[in-house]
Amino acid sequence: MAETRTILSLLLLHLLSLLLLFLSDPSSQSLALTVGINYGQIANNLPSPGRVSWFLQSLNVSRVKLYDADQNVLSAFLNTNVEFIVGIGNENVATMTDPSKAQAWVQQHVLPYLPHTRITCITVGNEVFTGNNTTLMANILPAMQSVYQVLVSLGLDKQVNVTTAHSLDILGNSYPPSASSFRQDLAVYIQPLLNFHSMAKSPFLINAYPYFAYKADPSSVSLEYVLFQPNPGVIDPNTKLNYDNMLYAQIDSVYSAIQAMGHTDIDVRISETGWPSRGDPDEVGATPEYAAIYNGNLLQRIAMNQGTPLKPSAPVDIFVFALFNEDLKPGPTSERNYGLFYPDGTPVYNIGLRGYLPPMSSSSKLMAVPFLGLFVLVSTALILA
Ligand SMILES: *[C@@H]1O[C@H](CO)[C@@H](O)[C@H](O)[C@H]1NC(C)=O
Ligand SMILES: *[C@@H]1O[C@H](CO)[C@@H](O)[C@H](O)[C@H]1NC(C)=O
Ligand SMILES: *[C@@H]1O[C@H](CO)[C@@H](O)[C@H](O)[C@H]1NC(C)=O
Ligand SMILES: *[C@@H]1O[C@H](CO)[C@@H](O)[C@H](O)[C@H]1NC(C)=O
Repeated sequence: MAETRTILSLLLLHLLSLLLLFLSDPSSQSLALTVGINYGQIANNLPSPGRVSWFLQSLNVSRVKLYDADQNVLSAFLNTNVEFIVGIGNENVATMTDPSKAQAWVQQHVLPYLPHTRITCITVGNEVFTGNNTTLMANILPAMQSVYQVLVSLGLDKQVNVTTAHSLDILGNSYPPSASSFRQDLAVYIQPLLNFHSMAKSPFLINAYPYFAYKADPSSVSLEYVLFQPNPGVIDPNTKLNYDNMLYAQIDSVYSAIQAMGHTDIDVRISETGWPSRGDPDEVGATPEYAAIYNGNLLQRIAMNQGTPLKPSAPVDIFVFALFNEDLKPGPTSERNYGLFYPDGTPVYNIGLRGYLPPMSSSSKLMAVPFLGLFVLVSTALILA
């Protein structure tokens, strides 16, 4: 009994600090319900999924994108109302072209969690047209089709979208936005992919990083334009539309490239965007100051429900990259420094986002109990006290 009481008081304490956190910081921005976040796990120092579940709920994040379908994560978010995009890695794309393997994958990674964990989308492969693996490129559509057929056979195709995420390298010409097109050598893959999206009513996802454009050419790319700061903008000579930031121009470029292939019925969404807070000496712009400006301004724009100049009535839909810094990511230093948060839950820079990461403790199992359960426990504690 004494032990129960200790645990309950501990929980009460956590709840109080949580409430204080919300009440004490009037300037804190809310990650509006529509903003999603990429939860990558290429690290050896991240908090357990149970603690991350608390953390994200305290931040009001209701949409999460994974690069796999980690059962520990999906179980930790049972009954939380957080919406998930789960992923099939490039290494499994070839396997998924076999309908029985696709069936097995959906049965193992999606079905057990529905409807208590809301999985709304499956990405098959990530940036498969970057690099030169033509086998992978040729397999992507058949893999998506077989996953989609499994969902159709289970009656889940309206609840769970099937798509893949692209890097902006798939564009050949991207300026002006209205004259954009996909790379000629990729047309043979992308045309049938677009036909699939149109039939399956699933979104076209892009990973868009104005940071890359700035880093590649800092002397001619306007910092204000990439960071959503006041600037005269760039006028598209064909449409006369004025772009005041690069991200929106990139989105509209993709819409134009899709339209040039005959489709006006496909949504473009941002599966990744972000800005690194650190980089190697040659990675110009990778600083906490610029990362804070980019992500802070981005969140404000999203909270305003803005569309792009070409699609003003379709609010821009984004998943920020990324939740945590990931210490085991290969590549330049910037790759390990895209996180909004350090693994201990403290913000890497201040954009008004403070989450509550419960401490590691022997009661970590209880910590994973969702909010409602906690309220019940707290009321019990109050009665007992
Ligand atoms: C979380 O979102 C809800 C609904 O939009 C809002 O009322 C609440 O103030 C938000 N809380 C925080 C901490 O942002
Ligand atoms: C292409 O990608 C697949 C899946 O990632 C991999 O198994 C295969 O070895 C790759 N091929 C080449 C030539 O790199
Ligand atoms: C393409 O593949 C070749 C041989 O597999 C490799 O040497 C080369 O680095 C690759 N190029 C890119 C851009 O990935
Ligand atoms: C699937 O994608 C379409 C097109 O973007 C969107 O309208 C729909 O809401 C998505 N479905 C789910 C379950 O998220």
